[in-house]
Amino acid sequence: MLSRQRKFLFFFLCFMVVQGLSAQQILSDSIERAIDRLLLKMTLEEKVGQMNQYNGFWDVTGPAPQAGADKFKYDHFKQGLVGSVLNVRGVNQVRKLQELVVNESRLGIPLLFGFDAVHGYNTVLPIPLAEAASWDLPAIERSARVAATEAASSGINWTFAPMVDISRDARWGRVMEGAGEDPYLGSQIAVARVKGFQGNDLSSPFSVLATAKHFAGYGFAEGGRDYNTVDVSALTLHNVILPPFNAAVKAGVASVMNSFNILNGIPATANHYLVQDILKKNWKFNGVVVSDWGSGVEMIDHGFAENLSQVASLAANAGSDVDMESYAYVNHLKEEVRKGTVSLATIDQSVRRVLRLKHLLGLFKDPYKYCDTTREKVYAMHPEHTQVARDMARRSMVLLRNENNVLPLQPQKKKIAVIGSLAADKNSPLGNWRLAAKDSSAVSLLEGFDAAGISYRYAPGVKLVTEGPVHFVQELAINNHDTSGIGYAVDIAKDADIVVMMLGEHGLQSGEGRSRAQLDLPGLQQQLLEAVYAVNPNIVLVLTTGRPLAITWAAEHIPAILLAWQPGSQSGHAITDVLLGQYNPSGKLPMTFPRSDRQLPIYYNQFSTGRPGPKKEVFWSHYIDESHAPLYEFGYGKSYTQFSYSDLQLSQRADTVLVSVKLTNTGSLHGEEVAQLYIHDRVSSLVRPIRELKGFKKVRLDSGASTVVSFELPTSLLGYYDGEGKLLLEPGWFDIYVGGGSAATLSAGFLYSK
Ligand code: NOJ
Repeated sequence: MLSRQRKFLFFFLCFMVVQGLSAQQILSDSIERAIDRLLLKMTLEEKVGQMNQYNGFWDVTGPAPQAGADKFKYDHFKQGLVGSVLNVRGVNQVRKLQELVVNESRLGIPLLFGFDAVHGYNTVLPIPLAEAASWDLPAIERSARVAATEAASSGINWTFAPMVDISRDARWGRVMEGAGEDPYLGSQIAVARVKGFQGNDLSSPFSVLATAKHFAGYGFAEGGRDYNTVDVSALTLHNVILPPFNAAVKAGVASVMNSFNILNGIPATANHYLVQDILKKNWKFNGVVVSDWGSGVEMIDHGFAENLSQVASLAANAGSDVDMESYAYVNHLKEEVRKGTVSLATIDQSVRRVLRLKHLLGLFKDPYKYCDTTREKVYAMHPEHTQVARDMARRSMVLLRNENNVLPLQPQKKKIAVIGSLAADKNSPLGNWRLAAKDSSAVSLLEGFDAAGISYRYAPGVKLVTEGPVHFVQELAINNHDTSGIGYAVDIAKDADIVVMMLGEHGLQSGEGRSRAQLDLPGLQQQLLEAVYAVNPNIVLVLTTGRPLAITWAAEHIPAILLAWQPGSQSGHAITDVLLGQYNPSGKLPMTFPRSDRQLPIYYNQFSTGRPGPKKEVFWSHYIDESHAPLYEFGYGKSYTQFSYSDLQLSQRADTVLVSVKLTNTGSLHGEEVAQLYIHDRVSSLVRPIRELKGFKKVRLDSGASTVVSFELPTSLLGYYDGEGKLLLEPGWFDIYVGGGSAATLSAGFLYSK
């Protein structure tokens, strides 16, 4: 039996639907009305509280803190002066803190619980740059869903991901966290990740709010040095940096995080143009803008604000709704309102955004909906997630080289030596954002070989990391002196038919605060590689890394190179699957591999210069001591089979350019190929890059089979943004290239007319 109230609600909804209002509109109207009512009850202090976010601190399930900073925060929770928290996780902890706030603060407004579930939670998936190399949008969405399911089952309802910063500089450690250098690929992946985290329904207990970060320009830190100055043109901003954010907003991302950097001299957290004008006004974003950790207080270091009071008014007026750990809002915003530097309307707008998210998640109905211990037991690490992690890792790997078909391995027929300390490492494959996972919980390569029944002899060769902590917040100590293991490694290599060497970066050599000036194999690994090569050149190099590396020597000498990135929990199994050919590699580079770090920044969608060359004389754009070509270009990646492209056809129908191409698997194995479509605008009123990705399709083909791959390219994708962000779509000649990478040679010209 329906209660009277429910019956009324039912008939009211039917009436509204008959009036032509969608159920969603009705829901959103009723949320806005509920917020209106709550705002009327809230004091200014409580409103500011919703704009304040603290990092978790004491063991919430233990006794209440009695003194110091912990007590300060604890009291604020009880007084309703905190709207959200990060890094408090696990159902028991979350429930306890939620109870404190709901039961003890005057209005009992539930908290949001945030966490960086960036590439997994308990189950660690490959780092996002690796996943981007799969060019497999459904798989990427699935991977984010796994992270969301596990995080949500542990009490979290807000993840600070996806990171959608485009970057062209592999020195920047945070390239591991994004989708690489291309705005089109980056936009598609941003959408897939947002969908994966948020699902179709934010009120499901398995959905978490997603965050597009870092808004904006953070990936262009000068010299690739994290937190450094950013100085980009308006054209780069609108055509390269902003598109993935725009795509995420269109996909309904719930929040956007300010970046640490300045843009045009103004820190992003106080950048009215970025946040108010572009994000909130032009793009109509109605979610929450959260500062990055301390990005408010850092405005003082930037030399933009004198004190925290000024930080509070600058950031609030620019539209930054929530202050993460700067203590600017909680301590100063009330006073700024009293002084008149910030209006009450501005505060109300920000608070409304925060409360809206809490409503959409259903927290007002049930503040404990993410606090189910049974769900936590079942889903916080589900066996299906292990499968997804293994599959995602295989799909992320890129075969860079395979001379004489060294791969796939045929271990039954060969004596195998495995060399490299990373091959036994169970911690490094977890990559950087693995704060919820157990340390050293990944499957090592040796364990992968063992499980597959492969016999081998093993030598670490050289240690990568020496003494000292291996920790998220600390610098790693890299071994630059102890070569004592090289002798034994050389001995077992001499005796082997084939040597599998696992070399590269440690998982904690990339990520926040981990920029590198040199992109070689860290420590003594190059020395080890050359020593082994001298006695047995029959080497398969498994390269682990969180960024493109300048492995030019290896690319010229080592017959097979498999780029495995940081593959996550299932690392060893996934690498073994690919080495044995149980999965035929299909990844393509989402970021250019340089020949040398001295070429940086290097990226495929560069502008033409006035002096392209080569010319007989020196007067053309080049280096005299290094090629200016990349080692491996964007979009590059091989397979154990071969693909060929032919019969490129173009036609225009209304607002669509139809492009089709015949793709044939000319090799002897079935496999997947990422067919890529690039354009080049020959002449335009603002110059355009020599190539730009505008479409891709991942296609599976049996050996000997052919198919026609068709792209429907909306003509809007022929356009570009001017310095004000206005889309220009100009008639004229375009070149279209289709192939298996950005160096595709099959092309046709096309005259676009409106
Ligand atoms: C700082 C990082 O820049 C950001 O990406 C992250 O979400 C926050 N810390 C919170 O951990």
